[in-house]
Amino acid sequence: MSGREGRDVAELAKRRGFFFPSNGVYGGVAGFYTYGPEGAALKRHLEDAWRDRFTVKEGNQEIEAPTIMPEAVFEASGHLDGFDDMLVECAECGESHRADHLIEDTTGIEDAEAIPIPEVEELIREHDLVCPSCGAALAGEPIEEFNLMFETTIGPGSGQQGYMRPETAQGIFVEFPQLAEYARNQLPFGVTQIGPAYRNEISPRKGVIRVREFTQAELEQFVDPERDKPDLSRVADVKVTLYPIENQREDGTEYVRTTIGDAVGEGIIANEWVAYYLGIAQEWYERVGVDVDRFRFRQHLPGERAHYASDCWDAEAELGGDWVEIAGFAYRGDYDLSKHAEHSGEDFSVFEQYDEPITTERATVDPDMSYLGPEFGGAAGEIADALERLAERDRAAFERAERSSADRSSGDEPRDGETVAVEVDGETHEIPMEKTGFAVEEVTESGEHVTPHVVEPSFGVGRTLYTLVAHAYREDEVDGEQRSYLSLAPEMAPTTVGVFPLMDRDGLGERAREIANDLREAGLEVAYDDSGNIGRRYRRQDEVGTPFCVTVDYETEGDGTVTLRDRDSTSQVRVPIADLAGVLAGLREGDRTFGALGDEYEELSAGAENAPE
Ligand code: GAP
Repeated sequence: MSGREGRDVAELAKRRGFFFPSNGVYGGVAGFYTYGPEGAALKRHLEDAWRDRFTVKEGNQEIEAPTIMPEAVFEASGHLDGFDDMLVECAECGESHRADHLIEDTTGIEDAEAIPIPEVEELIREHDLVCPSCGAALAGEPIEEFNLMFETTIGPGSGQQGYMRPETAQGIFVEFPQLAEYARNQLPFGVTQIGPAYRNEISPRKGVIRVREFTQAELEQFVDPERDKPDLSRVADVKVTLYPIENQREDGTEYVRTTIGDAVGEGIIANEWVAYYLGIAQEWYERVGVDVDRFRFRQHLPGERAHYASDCWDAEAELGGDWVEIAGFAYRGDYDLSKHAEHSGEDFSVFEQYDEPITTERATVDPDMSYLGPEFGGAAGEIADALERLAERDRAAFERAERSSADRSSGDEPRDGETVAVEVDGETHEIPMEKTGFAVEEVTESGEHVTPHVVEPSFGVGRTLYTLVAHAYREDEVDGEQRSYLSLAPEMAPTTVGVFPLMDRDGLGERAREIANDLREAGLEVAYDDSGNIGRRYRRQDEVGTPFCVTVDYETEGDGTVTLRDRDSTSQVRVPIADLAGVLAGLREGDRTFGALGDEYEELSAGAENAPE
């Protein structure tokens, strides 16, 4: 992110219309970015690929919920109390900074977010940290917890307090009772959502990496933790680079390179659902073009986890020398559904039918209050409750007493155990067995209410998009000239094919425009370009990652063929116009490779690229 790669990507992103700071004509405001034509197309392809993998292929449901939600939602979810960052304000210039980031940037300490505030204040003092804006010393400045949610009011007048959602997830959780019905109350099921989330970041930075409005793609997988298992065989052989807690504590650089199957077998990834989605995500990242040599899954340190998570792994990409979180895979347990059930009073459980009704024995008590009242006075109620708890916990305590009473009635000497002992407020009370109303009854149940647990893969679309651009950025030399290009996966590239006439005369321009339109009709994304020499037109498409270019030349009229050129190798083949749409669709979908086209079509020697117009 820092250094040359960061500058190259930011410069290319702005110049070629991927992304740039918003509202520039009014001076701009930090933390908001606009995706230009190339960026918007790349983002759409990325979201489509995510939807294809995490919604369609996983058999999940997708929803679209509002982005403004009432305060009650965030009281229940814990975001009102727990969604804070550490803010330190410079007394000299008034600029606000994230204290943990200052520490990370200047001391090399990682994950300072996990360090308690008093220790962060101490670190600022110890390392003589200064305000990055004006250079004034920050030692002694208090650190505040700053809530990241944007507030708003709903409706006219004072209105109702509302918040812009800080994660798309809450829009899924609050609708759980309804969504469970759509899923016919059968676990496991998953619900996805792609949409905006808002966080009033203290110091937005690094382009689209830390912004105040961004797109998330989230999946909430609802499972019965006792019964439901993912199909781990599907991902058992997927290779991953893991960075577990223990390794981070040791020397900070040792990764575990393993398969998902082995990572589960060896207990490195504790939760099978989390492991399953790490495997699915690894394959997906490879498909969309993340460089696997610059990618890892890092386990959160305990102090770093969000308030709702009991375990979490981040997908991290190496960008310009820094490791950046691009997605999180959290085990949220039943935290969210239980909280919303508690605060709303609604039922957030699923009734799970057993395969066969189950008959069990249940111990009950029906204490004789006409005995307990006079005997124990004010403590009678508590003794009755204690008997009930004891029956649930230790049925044998009653059965011992019952046996002993039976012995006594058969004329034997009474023995210990004809009373049942319960303890209330530190005092032990002996209750005669016959006054407890102890009974064992048979209960037949057809199922049980389960509050599902949640496993959540949560992707930042902007950060993933940035990663694709940074990891695809290449420089080389073609025909003695320097070129920079984006080696984007054909499925992701904003444009699949550039169509050019060699020159815009002798009918070549008309023919090229016709071909471009026919390819558009066939569902391909096409850029038509007839300005400048062919070499320059190739360079323009190379820089925005267009994987293929078609040139219409003087041979086209005679034999009905065009040249088809590959971005990365710059190789060319001559393809009949009639085959073009099918060939390009196959290349985009990954059903064929450019290299294999040489077996079918005439290969041309490279070098015609810079033919003058
Ligand atoms: N529902 C879980 C959740 O929101 P998170 O780790 O806070 O978890 C998920 O966010 C992803 O959203 C992150 O991995 C990151 O890719 C993206 N993200 C979070 N804050 C962001 C920001 N300020 N700017 C851009 N992307 C952000």
